[in-house]
Amino acid sequence: MGVVNAALASLRLQPGDVVCDLGSGDGRFLIAAAGHRGVRALGVEADPKLVEQSLAAARAAGVQDRVEVRCGDFHHEDFSSATVVILYLVMELNAQLLPRLQALRPGSRVVTIAFPIPGARAVSVFKVMVPEEPMPVPVFQYVVPIPTRG
Ligand SMILES: C[S@@+](CC[C@H](N)C(=O)[O-])C[C@H]1O[C@@H](n2cnc3c(N)ncnc32)[C@H](O)[C@@H]1O
Repeated sequence: MGVVNAALASLRLQPGDVVCDLGSGDGRFLIAAAGHRGVRALGVEADPKLVEQSLAAARAAGVQDRVEVRCGDFHHEDFSSATVVILYLVMELNAQLLPRLQALRPGSRVVTIAFPIPGARAVSVFKVMVPEEPMPVPVFQYVVPIPTRG
């Protein structure tokens, strides 16, 4: 199972969930999430080519009605409707986003791939083998409000 399926399986998505990938790349998380019954997906991606690619992939998968991808800087986009946020970003960006993650509705889930949110306590951590990586990739899950150290 790849990191996308493993991360989404760990979340047990329910109808009504809104899954947001900040820095959504080619949209692989969005398309997989929107394949779950009643789930909507929102991506924010700075690279317009990747935005086009993800919208084309959403159409090809028949989930375009449930996938929105905004081209822009996630620091300036509203993602307050998210019930689940996915971050595959460096630790510094995870740290910068923490105050906005804490402002999500209580009980919202945050999953970070590869890098944790520094100083924050995860409710679970597991590792997934990814073909292109020599070492298993850790997946961290947090629940809002996210407990922090110090
Ligand atoms: C490691 S990739 C992860 C892509 C996707 N989440 C995935 O797991 O397949 C990080 C992505 O974040 C995007 N990114 C980085 N900083 C960003 C920002 N401030 N606003 C929007 N996108 C950003 C990059 O362009 C890149 O596509």
